[in-house]
Amino acid sequence: MPLPVQAEWQPGYYRFATAPLGALRRQVTGPAGSTDESYHLRVTAAGASLTAVSALGLQRGIATFRQVLERQPRGWRAQYCDIRDWPRFKWRGLLIDAARHFLPVAVIKRNLDGMAAVKLNVLHWHLSDDQGFRVESRLFPRLNQASTDGLFYTRAQVREVLAYAAARGIRVVPEFDMPSHTTSWIVAYPRLASVDSAYAPYTLWRTTNVAIDPTRRSTYAFVDSLLTEMTALFPDPYFHTGGDENDGRQWRRTPRIVAFMRAHKQVKADGVTPDKHLLQLYFSQKVDSLVRRHGKIMIGWDEILGPGLPHDVVVQSWRGAKAMAQTVQQGHPALLSAGYYLDLNYSAATYYTADPHAGVPDSLRTRVLGGEAAMWGEYADSVVYDSRVWPRAAAVAERLWSPAAATQDVPDMYRRLAAVSDELEGLGLRHRRTPAILLRQMAAPYPAALPALQTLAAVVEPVKEYKRNFQGFKYTTETLYNRLVDAAPAESDVARRFGATVDSLMAAQPVLTSLVPTVAPMPLTPVARGQLARLQKQVQQWQQASAALTPLFVVAPNLGEYAPLATQLATVATLCQQRLAQLASGQPVLPAWQTEAKLQLDAAQKPAGQAELAIVKAARRLAGL
Ligand code: ACM
Repeated sequence: MPLPVQAEWQPGYYRFATAPLGALRRQVTGPAGSTDESYHLRVTAAGASLTAVSALGLQRGIATFRQVLERQPRGWRAQYCDIRDWPRFKWRGLLIDAARHFLPVAVIKRNLDGMAAVKLNVLHWHLSDDQGFRVESRLFPRLNQASTDGLFYTRAQVREVLAYAAARGIRVVPEFDMPSHTTSWIVAYPRLASVDSAYAPYTLWRTTNVAIDPTRRSTYAFVDSLLTEMTALFPDPYFHTGGDENDGRQWRRTPRIVAFMRAHKQVKADGVTPDKHLLQLYFSQKVDSLVRRHGKIMIGWDEILGPGLPHDVVVQSWRGAKAMAQTVQQGHPALLSAGYYLDLNYSAATYYTADPHAGVPDSLRTRVLGGEAAMWGEYADSVVYDSRVWPRAAAVAERLWSPAAATQDVPDMYRRLAAVSDELEGLGLRHRRTPAILLRQMAAPYPAALPALQTLAAVVEPVKEYKRNFQGFKYTTETLYNRLVDAAPAESDVARRFGATVDSLMAAQPVLTSLVPTVAPMPLTPVARGQLARLQKQVQQWQQASAALTPLFVVAPNLGEYAPLATQLATVATLCQQRLAQLASGQPVLPAWQTEAKLQLDAAQKPAGQAELAIVKAARRLAGL
């Protein structure tokens, strides 16, 4: 994925006598330096050939070629095909947050491999935030000590990542977020602070609303020096300076800043109330002029938008379609990330249906550069990062690469996503291995319960959106991500398939809700009988798993927080079993049973350990609720 949709498939296969990549005839037809990513891949009885205008196009074609290859007992084969393919958007990014948790170079590299496989072409490397500043700075070395772990990339490591990305046709855009998200800067250099106070390395996840002081000349001298150093390190023409989530509380609380705002007419209509938007706009314009002096084009989040911001500044929308529309209406190139936040734990289908052109008038569509999937790192350390990105990021990749009309078929997307997930595993991504290892570690005190724990984890998902912040568990930068919630998939395949089978079975059922059916029960079709049998087997497995987990919860006290989910699983399974028995015998669903089922299912939806059962919605549909 994105498996090319502009493909023509012919019956038959070409079998490779040698390594298929070596046997692929490749040709570049255009000038050096071209950024055209189109390619033409053909597999015929004469072999496989790939032509592209640019070397970049060859790389995209090779990514597709890997996807049409099938391993055979001896060697490889590729289906005959004739594929002319090109991207819909030229900017197809993944935001990797290495600021909240430092991510070692190996993690970045294997995620770059994943990006290349799905034709993502921009790594947006979020390198500084409240919790840390992650690039070696020779001018401001204290920045690198202002995190609890003291971890950062050396300049040599940055160059290593840049070279690795370039070799895969991936640009790297660094982000140094300011004026807010800068606690680490202020810890290192207190003179940057808006509010004079004692600052220590920030160990929590919530937004601080700490902001550097935009009224002092020395702040811009600092930013200019930092830009001198960082723009020289990162060769991409674009440079991200953040700009998000500053509520202005520190500015409003500081008399000298308020005086500055009044003197500069940065006030609301009443003429006196300070307007933080106007001060932030002033800041963004000054930072833009510095970025520009260093030969780069500035990118910032939604909040930098305002009158007078030069029109070539790129705005990245994280707050929604309305912000995206405002951006293009005000003349800026735009990137969409709203709808692509992987850390919210939505389904691949949710991301797949978000479109960068949604809400953008036709006449302004050329201003949309593309979009970026974003994986913010509060709840993803280097151990679990891959499994929070993949395979769902591939759904965003396809949305950004393929024609809009070709990205409507969600079931087919899931079919291909499974194949891509296999491919990613083969490339060394750890999105499947790591959760499996975590579960083994959890079951170590009573290994016989491992299969049951796997069964439970497969139908559990972390709570959605930002709810993990608000369920009574205190997370800090030191928290280990080794609990069941961390091994649980962001989207449960088992739950999705269960739901699909339920829907298919229910769609084929006559509606039987009255106490005394007026029609004789219809016999089930063979297909429905098969589905019913599959569901029965599934719910039985859940019941057994729930029972088998009891001794593990006794001997592994840390796992005890998840005992409620195991109990809820048994409850849901029992209800499903009752309903399936009714369906098998053609009995109507009784209102009294439904009332009780509803109560139980409501209770079964309750999260435990910041995780929740992903099968409850499907169970409701099965129960006719
Ligand atoms: C953001 O999510 N605050 C850009």
